[in-house]
Formats: sequence, structure tokens, C-alpha cells
Amino acid sequence: MTTVLAIETSCDETAVALVQDRQVLAEAVASQISQHQVYGGVVPEIASRQHLEVINFLMAQVQAETGIRWTDVDGIAATCAPGLVGALNVGLTVAKTLAILHRRPLVGIHHLEGHICAAYLTEPDLTPPFLCLLVSGGHTSLVAVRDWQTYEPLGQTRDDAVGEAFDKVARLLGLGYPGGPAIDRLAQTGNPHAFGLPEGKISLPQGGYHPYDMSFSGLKTAVRRLVEQLPQPLPVADLAASFQYTVVQTLTRRAIRCALDQDLKTLVVAGGVAANRELRATITAAAAQHGIRVVIPPMRYCTDNAAMIGCAGVIRLSQGQQSPLSLVSQSRLPLTAVASLYAA
Ligand code: KG4
Ligand code: ZN
Repeated sequence: MTTVLAIETSCDETAVALVQDRQVLAEAVASQISQHQVYGGVVPEIASRQHLEVINFLMAQVQAETGIRWTDVDGIAATCAPGLVGALNVGLTVAKTLAILHRRPLVGIHHLEGHICAAYLTEPDLTPPFLCLLVSGGHTSLVAVRDWQTYEPLGQTRDDAVGEAFDKVARLLGLGYPGGPAIDRLAQTGNPHAFGLPEGKISLPQGGYHPYDMSFSGLKTAVRRLVEQLPQPLPVADLAASFQYTVVQTLTRRAIRCALDQDLKTLVVAGGVAANRELRATITAAAAQHGIRVVIPPMRYCTDNAAMIGCAGVIRLSQGQQSPLSLVSQSRLPLTAVASLYAA
């Protein structure tokens, strides 16, 4: 058994978890949404300060709940890339300090690897290979997970990430931050076929379209035009439902086609947008028609959390990997460069 203390501070959630293999022993999360809401988005400086204010409290909470001493864990994992550097630094510095004090291995975790590993938490038998549709606030891609840590990107957005598109459209509709959950809620009462919106396709030089790449900025612009042209009061629920329908169709079509082409029998959907109810239902139904197994983590493990970082930490440690204490936070790092986080 491998037990890992995990810390996640890459954006606007401060989260600490104690994970043993695929089991979450304890977790504590402090959301900063109310602090950022008045600004309509995440303010990096406020995020860092807020992480600093609550992290010790969350660590104490997890310790009190489990009675564990940090000396007894097998390793200390923290998200170190990608994300807001000031925010990442808070969690990584806490992890390094504990690693030095208690002579435990430090394990830096790539945030997107964490999102993928969330799928292992509730599926004891899940193992690679599988296809992952990674849909978060800053990232949208189709990644073939060939082996525990071998990632092959097969398709991606050429412009906005899908979560970013949800947030921008929510702002256009006056729904505030965070936009994804607001659109998800409102779309329940709207007509998804009220407005025919364009699906962003990527043309290929030889003709036709890229089978897996996507684009969401044209869709966002189409919603903006409607908002400018339609008479008041705006049919906000219909607009939200039509936007969401178009996004979900785009993602589902690309993911199913990719899984079939690559002969991958399991499809994992991960990242904050995987919490979207319409996406969960549509992709599950479409995959069932093609005999593809779908794994979508429970909603609390789709959005940012430390349990997924702990699970990734357990896997890295089990493979004999740890990070040097000289590890630094990075705002960007492709998933294909994740090996650079570990000592040779
Ligand atoms: O993975 P995540 O928590 O943070 C990042 O790593 O980016 O994803 C946050 C994104 C935000 O853009 C948020 O609007 C979106 O996930 N999101 C949703 C839903 N819940 C969160 N989008 C659509 N429907 C939801 N229910
Ligand atoms: Zn995330």
C-alpha cells in the first residue's frame, strides 16, 4: 500500500487529501469562488494570498481526521504545472518544506495528469490503454493514455478551451463566474434547438476536416452576435441550451470517432467540464451504442481537487519516481513533457 499526502493550489481551489492507493482517506477543500466573483474571473494575486491563508488549516484538518503523522506517509505530492505560478508556489513550497522536515519523497504532479488519474479513484479495475477526453478551463484535448505515463495527444482545440468558452458565453449572457455550472443549470430549462449554432471545424490543406481537432471561438462569436441582435429580454435559457448542445455534440462526435479509429475500448472524460450533466448523459449514451466503456469521475473529482493529485502521486511513487527538491512551478508544460518533473 502506498499513502500520499497531496496538495492542489493551481487555480482557485485550495485542496489537501490523504490518498492510499486508489482510496481517499480524508480530504479538505476551500473554494475561493466568492472572493473572485466580484471581479468576474480569477484574480491571480488574490488566489495566491487566499491559498496561503487557508492551507495550514486544511492540512491540520486532514491530519486530525486521520490521526496520521506526516512522517508516516510514503510521499508528498503537489501540483507544480500548469497553472498560476504564484498559486502553484504556495502548495509546492508547503510540500517541499514537509518533504525536507520529514525526509519524505517529493512528487511534483502535472495538473492534467491529476485530472486523468481522477478516473482511477472510483474504478478499481481501470488500467491503460484508454482514450481520455480532457476538458477543463484551460485545456481541451483527446489524449491516448497508452501506458501509465505515456500520453499521446491526438486532437485539441485550436483556440479557446471548452471551459473557457463556457465562461465567456456565460459572461455574454450575464450569468457571472464560474460560467460552466451556471450554463449547465440554466440550459435545463431552455430549448437546445432554438438556435442553430456553428460547430467549429478545422480544415485540412488536402481538403476535408481534421477528425479530432476542434475550435470554440467561432461558436462564442455566434452567441455574441445573437446577444447583440436579439430583442430584449434575451431568451437566455434557450441561448445557454443551444450553446451547450453544440459544444456537447462537437466533443461527443470527436471522442467517439477517435476511440473507434484507435480501437480504444474505454473512454475517460476528465476535467472541470466533465461535471456538465448534458455532456455526461450524451457521451455515455453515444459510447454505449458503439460498445465503448465510459468512465466519468463523480462531479467532485472532475473539478479541481487534491484526491486526483494524490492518486497520480501514488502511481508515480509506485513506479519509483520522485522529484528533485529544486523543482519549480511552471505556468505551462505540455503533458508530453511530464517526465521532466522527475529525477533521472
Ligand atoms: O478542471 P477545472 O476545475 O479547472 C481547470 O483546471 O481549469 O475546470 C474549470 C472549468 C471552468 O471553465 C468551469 O466553468 C468549467 O470547468 N465547469 C463546467 C461545469 N463545472 C465546471 N463547465 C460546464 N458545465 C459544468 N457543470
Ligand atoms: Zn483543473
